[in-house]
Amino acid sequence: MSAADNITWHTFDTRQAMVDELTEATCEALLRGMKARGNAAWAVSGGSTPKPLFDAMAEADLVWEDIQIALVDERWVDADHPRSNEAFMRGALEKGRSAEAMFIGMKTADGNVFDAADAVNRRYAQVKQPFDCVLLGLGPDGHTASLFPAAEGLEAAMADDAPVCVALKAQKSEVTGDELERMSLSLSAIATAREVVLRITGDEKKATLERALKEDTHLPIAKVAEKVAIKVYWAP
Ligand code: 6PG
Repeated sequence: MSAADNITWHTFDTRQAMVDELTEATCEALLRGMKARGNAAWAVSGGSTPKPLFDAMAEADLVWEDIQIALVDERWVDADHPRSNEAFMRGALEKGRSAEAMFIGMKTADGNVFDAADAVNRRYAQVKQPFDCVLLGLGPDGHTASLFPAAEGLEAAMADDAPVCVALKAQKSEVTGDELERMSLSLSAIATAREVVLRITGDEKKATLERALKEDTHLPIAKVAEKVAIKVYWAP
């Protein structure tokens, strides 16, 4: 199937309506895992747009002590850094009902992200795979997770035999910020998930996705869509 065939669009008039339905869909995905295996694993992206969803999920009536919440990717900064995805994840979800979940971050003491990959994969060996739900974002450059176009390590990150977590070094752009060293779920780790959700807002990112599916098929988001069905949640 083509990348475009793997996309299911869920579009909304408002961001709140999108958050409401995405909260319900995420809970259903986690409940399916709990019913089938007694536990569930949710992989979450950083960035800024997931915050309203995390606020809603933090109050969801789930058996959170049986749920693992792991990062999709990490800017290679410590958890006390303002740009840390782990700080963002814990700040939004380690409260309310979801505080009972098990949180798995990526950052280690290694200064170099490439030196850390084996240790992060050993840490992620405790995460129930495949994920019941992976929440992705999209950059205007077509990156998702930390699979950045032209990044050092991107080819290995996209290989079928890649480990769950892979190290990359992005090319500096207005999208990367100063954090060029990244740890990310590999394409294969995302593609084996039971459900993949891409949450985007605004016309620019919608256009980026549509262009990636039709012509810029080399972009990482298009490569993900070639491998796995993606539910796209979009609001203006
Ligand atoms: C990161 C994120 C990244 C994010 C996109 C979209 O570390 O920046 O994991 O992949 O999902 O950049 O970010 P927004 O959702 O904030 O636009």
